[in-house]
Amino acid sequence: MTYQFDEQFERKGTLSLKWDQAESLFGDPDVLPLWVADMDFRCPPAIIETVKQRAELGMYGYTIRTHEYLDAITSWFSRRHHWQIQPEWLTDTPGVVPALGVAIQVLSEPGDQVILQSPVYNPFYDVIRKNGRQVAQNPLVLRNGRYEMDYEQLESLMRDGAKLLLLCSPHNPGGRVWDREELEHLGRLCEQYDVRVISDEIHCDLILADKKHIPFATLSETIAERTVTCLAPSKTFNMPGLNSSFTCISNPEMKRLFDEQVQTLAVGGVSFFGPPATIAAYNESEDWLEALLNYVRGNMEYAISFIKDQMPMLNPIVSEGTYLLWVDCRKLGLNTDALKQLMYQEAKIAFNEGSLYGEQGTGFLRINLACPRPLLSKALDQFKGAIERML
Ligand SMILES: Cc1ncc(COP(=O)(O)O)c(C=O)c1O
Repeated sequence: MTYQFDEQFERKGTLSLKWDQAESLFGDPDVLPLWVADMDFRCPPAIIETVKQRAELGMYGYTIRTHEYLDAITSWFSRRHHWQIQPEWLTDTPGVVPALGVAIQVLSEPGDQVILQSPVYNPFYDVIRKNGRQVAQNPLVLRNGRYEMDYEQLESLMRDGAKLLLLCSPHNPGGRVWDREELEHLGRLCEQYDVRVISDEIHCDLILADKKHIPFATLSETIAERTVTCLAPSKTFNMPGLNSSFTCISNPEMKRLFDEQVQTLAVGGVSFFGPPATIAAYNESEDWLEALLNYVRGNMEYAISFIKDQMPMLNPIVSEGTYLLWVDCRKLGLNTDALKQLMYQEAKIAFNEGSLYGEQGTGFLRINLACPRPLLSKALDQFKGAIERML
């Protein structure tokens, strides 16, 4: 089957967080939104059909998970990631971010240091701080146009007592798909200093480069023992509004504690549309995903060459994974407010402003490339025009 990702659909007036807030967030209803990570593509046909059939039932009652649902998840991870997940390792959660919060509550105490690798997805800071823990920053190092981990600084944080690490794999923003050697190095340090890992692998299916995502828990049995992995079909298949995600924990004691906390907070269970849509995604939508990845690769190439040719002061960081492009705009010499003004008021576009992801992101922008190319092209043209008028 062929898929038409160039087609533009009207999303204004659909209660879209991305499209229906241009005026309230950016001061102008015409600002083009290429920010929050959902896609401007329709879902795979199997998901749409499943949701339609379910909506037709007209009674939206409490919903159960089935063997078919668990099989769909375990077969997907076996097929795509060579990871033999056992159904009893899985717990459903309404989102990956809620799962990160639960895991932090279970694996640390108030006041503890929790390591993150900045710049990183902004809710990482919130789930640590709002749970009364402290952020221990292990900034990534930008070397030859790609981010790398700073193991020396990481080890010093561990030596100083940090016992929990929040890993983003693939990494958002910056799009690193961590190599096995990098993850193994990280894993050795975690074992040496008895650090546990919450691995957010929500972007694991969105690999653009010619490489494989390595689930952290597959490195070894002993690494799996200290790892909580947070997963979902939501980024892969554009269904974050269906609130369907799951956490994988093979360590029975850690799983028991996690499940107890899910019950304490009453955040368990599945949504009405979640399991059937997940089955349709994992069992029937693989060809759509391959087509999507090709399209996003095309957008990545398009955006990078446009920026290099037409906006040479900007430096795009090539993403190995995710549909997000991280662009170094520091040569423009603008502070955060001026960069926002340039985007929202002059260019009438909204990319994510980089300091949101930590101070190392200051002067960077994150562009969501999961949109029809004509829209991407229009947004880049408008940005270019605004820069030229400013210079
Ligand atoms: C790394 C990462 N984790 C989690 C999420 C969101 O997860 P959820 O919507 O399931 O809470 C995102 C969304 O962009 C993300 O980039």
